[in-house]
Amino acid sequence: MIGRLNHVAIAVPDIEAARALYRDVLGGDVSEVIAQPAHGVSVVFVMLPNTKIELLHPLGEGSPIAQFLERNPSGGMHHVCYDVDDIIAARDALKAKGARVLGDGEPKIGAHDKPVLFLHPKDFYGTLVELEQV
Ligand code: CO
Repeated sequence: MIGRLNHVAIAVPDIEAARALYRDVLGGDVSEVIAQPAHGVSVVFVMLPNTKIELLHPLGEGSPIAQFLERNPSGGMHHVCYDVDDIIAARDALKAKGARVLGDGEPKIGAHDKPVLFLHPKDFYGTLVELEQV
């Protein structure tokens, strides 16, 4: 069911500092800071040959990563995202196997303008899992 690793998302307390670290220390190919108000985040994409890293920082009230940063003030890995071919088929197969889908269970349009779902971290060894239909 799951395909390529689409991205790993890391919540960071200072997005400019994180961008500079990935560019200057790790030598990464980093984007500008991109505001995504509809998703409550500012993001920097780090393009790797085989996947992406997304550096996330809260934007506005009620950001989905604000609480995570309160619990992890120095930042931390927030989620991993896997490609799937058919997000509805993936959701239904996962639910049939007992995995919990977050929210109302309907795919939302994610940060890459593609349908996404999130799976409960307690069902996947403490890792929030995002599925993106490619
Ligand atoms: Co993501």
